[in-house]
Amino acid sequence: MTIPAIGIATPALMALRGDRIASPAGTPEAARGDGPPTDVILRFDEPGRLILPGFVDPHTHFLFGGDRSREFGMRLTGKTYQEIAAAGGGIRNTVRATRAAPDDELAAGLVRRLDRALLDGTTTCEVKVSYGLSIDEDLRCLAIVDRVARTHPVRIVPTWMGAHDFPTEFREDREAWVGRLCAGAKEIAAQGIARFADVFCEEGVFTPEQSRRILEAAGEAGLKLKVHADEFGPSGGSDVAIAVGAVSADHLHCLPLENIPKLKAAGVVPVALPGTAFFLKLNSQAPVRAMLDAGLPVAIATDGNPGSNMTESMPMMLTLACLQYGMTPLEAFEAATANAARAIDMANDVGRLDPGYYADFQVVDVPSIDHLAYHYGRSHVRSVWIGGRKVVDDGRRVD
Ligand code: NIG
Ligand code: FE
Repeated sequence: MTIPAIGIATPALMALRGDRIASPAGTPEAARGDGPPTDVILRFDEPGRLILPGFVDPHTHFLFGGDRSREFGMRLTGKTYQEIAAAGGGIRNTVRATRAAPDDELAAGLVRRLDRALLDGTTTCEVKVSYGLSIDEDLRCLAIVDRVARTHPVRIVPTWMGAHDFPTEFREDREAWVGRLCAGAKEIAAQGIARFADVFCEEGVFTPEQSRRILEAAGEAGLKLKVHADEFGPSGGSDVAIAVGAVSADHLHCLPLENIPKLKAAGVVPVALPGTAFFLKLNSQAPVRAMLDAGLPVAIATDGNPGSNMTESMPMMLTLACLQYGMTPLEAFEAATANAARAIDMANDVGRLDPGYYADFQVVDVPSIDHLAYHYGRSHVRSVWIGGRKVVDDGRRVD
């Protein structure tokens, strides 16, 4: 296992060149000043605190309108997530609310969620546009994400997920919607405001064959690929991810074990979503230990969304990954940083405190990584730096 440069105790020094790390904290080069050329040396003198890479959250649906707390109550009285969806709730509920929300309201909601993520140590965040279910609406939502990305300090990776469901107007003619998505991929890619395309490959949603066609069209249009795979059953989603050369396959609660070596051979990064399994009370867990044993760089993410996991907290995902998958805190931390960066194809830019990486880090008030997973339910973040700029000070946002 590659251990990222983590757990640097303060007092320490960190040398920066522009917005990247020239020499990570605590090295003799940084202290002597005879390392690579530097623009700035940051000094940290906070005994008992740690400097850690910021979390990379590689799977969220943070752009949405409306509220689904009522559905949470329904699930508590025995309705399943799928039953609620079949009755017109679920994703379609959020689609109605998102379409009805003005730009400023959607932007403000995204900013609130990114702020909360940031205060919990997230410095890079993938954001899916997944509740438009029309090409025009998706273009509007992607433009909103782009607008927020220009002003918010968190690094945003935008994903187009037009294939999240079938819109009501296409329910009787599913093939027509698949065709619209294949053609729409070009229109979306042409705007230059989406980096990835994602498809919900699952029984009752997109078949493996439909998923493959949509992803191939998106790939030809220049988008990188992700798949919601094997979430509620062995849906064939991981096979599709392998066949199209997706950057990541996400969920994988029901991943067939024989696909583990195939994911490895195809270079697909598995993204486990421990909060979703917890929030939906799913019986099956992604086979994380088997994937780690096979040498796969397992990543974890929040999957933050109004239906299946309403949270922005990556530290909470660390705790759940340890408890549900039997990961060590260090494995979970690597999954939430360096491996998460691989899941968004940013492995050389974020997720580690090494020379050449963006100076994106959190100073946390815990003595060890173990403590971060162990003491859950509150933020331990004191300050956060993105591109060498302090954006959280004393647990509060600063600009
Ligand atoms: O990743 N699985 C599909 N999509 C989301 C849930 C979306 C919703 O319920 O609004 C997920 O879990
Ligand atoms: Fe998701």
